[in-house]
Amino acid sequence: MHNPLEVTIHDKIFVPFISAEKLQEKIQELAAQLNRDYAGKQPLFIAILNGSFMFAADVFRQITIEAEICFIRLSSYTGTASTGQVITAIGLDVPLSNRPVIILEDIVDTGKTLSEFLPQIQLQQPSSVAVATLLHKPDATRFPVPIQYCCFSIANKFVLGYGLDYNGLGRNLPGLYQLKVE
Ligand code: IMP
Repeated sequence: MHNPLEVTIHDKIFVPFISAEKLQEKIQELAAQLNRDYAGKQPLFIAILNGSFMFAADVFRQITIEAEICFIRLSSYTGTASTGQVITAIGLDVPLSNRPVIILEDIVDTGKTLSEFLPQIQLQQPSSVAVATLLHKPDATRFPVPIQYCCFSIANKFVLGYGLDYNGLGRNLPGLYQLKVE
């Protein structure tokens, strides 16, 4: 397995944090839990690109109940002075009404993205909404986000790999790496 002791991405050095094997173990547990909780409910998974593409693929591969998945991007733009930053979903073309929805996210950091996006999902009146995130940085979270499923709660340090990037690079690393403290 490709698992270098240090990787340099742009100007920064990263060290191994969570191995590909450990990630897969947790993802297996998460998928087993989702298979139990959503049996017979035909949930719709909504994976938020780009960061969650590997996580979403690995979770969904292990979903054994009837389920759908769609992929969206969130784009933020500056709205009016009263609304400030506005987040819109690109590619959300599946009706959500009366369906159980599971959001797949790579990381909840400040919580800003999801805290703005979840109310927009609720407007479409799904029967339920759950957030399943690979990573959560509780010490960085300033906007409340209800997280029903979390694989790893981590310290407030920058990480990359397994779909997460630093200025576009590092997504292809099979495990997670953390910024090296010099
Ligand atoms: P939030 O809105 O602050 O919760 O940020 C969510 C988004 O920020 C994630 O979907 C990631 O794309 C990005 N992000 C936050 N922390 C990290 C990190 O440590 N590494 C890579 N991307 C991150």
